[in-house]
Amino acid sequence: MKKLSIAIVAAVSVASVMSSCTSDPNSPGYEYMPDMYRTQAIEAYSESSFYADSMATRKPVENTIPRGFMPYPYPNTTEGYEAAGTDLKNPLAYNKEVLSEGKEIYSKFCIQCHGKSGQGDGSVANNPRWPGPPPPYDGRLKDLSEGKIFHSITYGKGLMGSHAAQISQEDRWKLVYYIQKLQGKDLDAMHAAKPEGNEEITQPESNEGSSEEMTASM
Ligand code: HEC
Repeated sequence: MKKLSIAIVAAVSVASVMSSCTSDPNSPGYEYMPDMYRTQAIEAYSESSFYADSMATRKPVENTIPRGFMPYPYPNTTEGYEAAGTDLKNPLAYNKEVLSEGKEIYSKFCIQCHGKSGQGDGSVANNPRWPGPPPPYDGRLKDLSEGKIFHSITYGKGLMGSHAAQISQEDRWKLVYYIQKLQGKDLDAMHAAKPEGNEEITQPESNEGSSEEMTASM
């Protein structure tokens, strides 16, 4: 009995020493194994004595790209537009799902100006304060190549803004198929001749395959 009360007194006093030895209300007090709370990793954007320039955040190693990011080598110039127009091919294999996903994205991001069937008669374009409606896809834009369509969605064109920040590269390529349909192209016939589609070209979000091929295809 005596032993038990000594143990209780000892436990209480140890606990009170551990919890009351500091007057700073923000102090976490005694930390058992601080490694569990405080990571050894350097915080982003903080200072670090590990590097000569003391910056914890490092630039990516030269000639490397972050995972999931695909560089787009065509500049926002007339030359870039023309080059994309001749070189760029849709890296996604054509099928009904891709087309219907393209339609879905179109109805969220494009329909308000270009209209349901791409006649340039969307509600924004019809607003008298809007300077001028976009041309119909099956009119002046009928022969616009897939590369130019992708390029214009990426950078914008004239009164149309860039959609690169809202729509991923993969989704922009899905849109390209849908725009081609609105141009009046017979996509089924175009892709029936080569049923495996453009499979030899790596898909945009994939990290496999030669980076040279991917850069060229994007
Ligand atoms: C704010 C209105 C607006 C929105 C939203 C919009 N566009 Fe446009 N778009 C235009 C106008 C205006 C033009 C004509 C630009 C010009 O030639 O000056 C145009 C032109 C185009 C062209 C032809 C570009 C070329 O190279 O001649 C394509 C393709 C196109 N838009 C696709 C899209 C797609 C796909 C979307 C949805 C992701 C979209 N647009 C969203 C207004 C819009």
